[in-house]
Amino acid sequence: MPKLNENYQSLKESYLFSEIAHRVNTYLAENPDKKVIRLGIGDVTLPLSSEVIKSLHDGVDDMARAETFKGYGPEQGYAFLRNAISDYYKEHHVSIDPSEIFISDGAKSDTGNITDLFAKENTILVPDPVYPVYVDTNLMAGKQITYMAGTIENNFLPMPDKTIHADIIYLCSPNNPTGAVYNRSQLQEWVRYALENHAIILFDSAYEAFISDPELPRSIFSIDGAKKCAIEFCSLSKTAGFTGTRCGYTIVPNDLVFSASNGKEMSLNAMWNRRQSTKFNGTSYIVQKGASAVFTKEGMAQCKKNLAYYQENAKIIATCLTQKGFRFFGGVHSPYIWFECPEVEGSRDSWKFFDYLLNNIQVVGTPGAGFGENGKNFFRLTSFGNKENTIEAMERFDKLF
Ligand code: MLT
Repeated sequence: MPKLNENYQSLKESYLFSEIAHRVNTYLAENPDKKVIRLGIGDVTLPLSSEVIKSLHDGVDDMARAETFKGYGPEQGYAFLRNAISDYYKEHHVSIDPSEIFISDGAKSDTGNITDLFAKENTILVPDPVYPVYVDTNLMAGKQITYMAGTIENNFLPMPDKTIHADIIYLCSPNNPTGAVYNRSQLQEWVRYALENHAIILFDSAYEAFISDPELPRSIFSIDGAKKCAIEFCSLSKTAGFTGTRCGYTIVPNDLVFSASNGKEMSLNAMWNRRQSTKFNGTSYIVQKGASAVFTKEGMAQCKKNLAYYQENAKIIATCLTQKGFRFFGGVHSPYIWFECPEVEGSRDSWKFFDYLLNNIQVVGTPGAGFGENGKNFFRLTSFGNKENTIEAMERFDKLF
């Protein structure tokens, strides 16, 4: 009989967004005539931009001719895309060598797979609330997690507690789910803490394209010293509508070298390279061709136009919540709006609120409980819906409260 990975017993029965989809499908099976508006999972609704589509077509054509056909590609990604991403960082005054950039099928897999590089004995700090993948993937690997509370008092931006030693720190900014963004001095404090503790920051910047204030850092590598203590994960899912197309990248600086217990120096860039070449055969050439168009002048302009559309949706939601007197967070440098659940049927529990909205106005959001204990009385709405649906959802909201 195989011995199973019993760490799976410490997970919730299903992944947050699978549970939501299940509840919505059950509701629809019982109420087939109802129009459900989904503002739950952060899934984009606008099609890919015309520049990306053109480039995807070019990629398909390349595969049709012997001279340009591609078989297995480099596991780290094609040079044309790694160079384009390096240039993108340069535009934001951050210097990243293409050898530090690894192309993948998205930040979700990479933030999960990175756990392969670290031993069980680490002290791992994870904000609560936060994107559930960090927690679940560490639990799957049997690792212990120490939580740091994100609360209204700290604007959902936990800061280092100097009395605690950490080895690995997860940060997500702009934050999923709260929409909170670390400013430069806060990130500088985290980098200082990581350097003092010889710790690694795993920085998820999947929502960086939503930052509109040039003073706010879009990359941890815009902070001095970060290349000695941080790995950054980014994704084209939200920047360029790639949720279904799948492409992301992870930056592992060449400076990340640590001593192993036997005294041997180990480079995290070399380890990640080894891990990826063993377990991953690269993102498809066609997708990488499409992704490269995102970083052209015209491609980026088209992405910004789409981002502006979602930002407008965020305003529609924020305006309604303000009129209703709801206290909310995010929605400015983030596609997410995070608010305290009002008391319904004697409770502020976010799953009860989820059911209440679904049953009464057929609007789907994400219960804060799915992001951690500190989220249990909060609720998240996304601005990734289409405009008409967002307006209709908020009209229904307006009538209910
Ligand atoms: C979310 O809704 O939190 C995200 O879309 C999930 C993801 O990016 O995997």
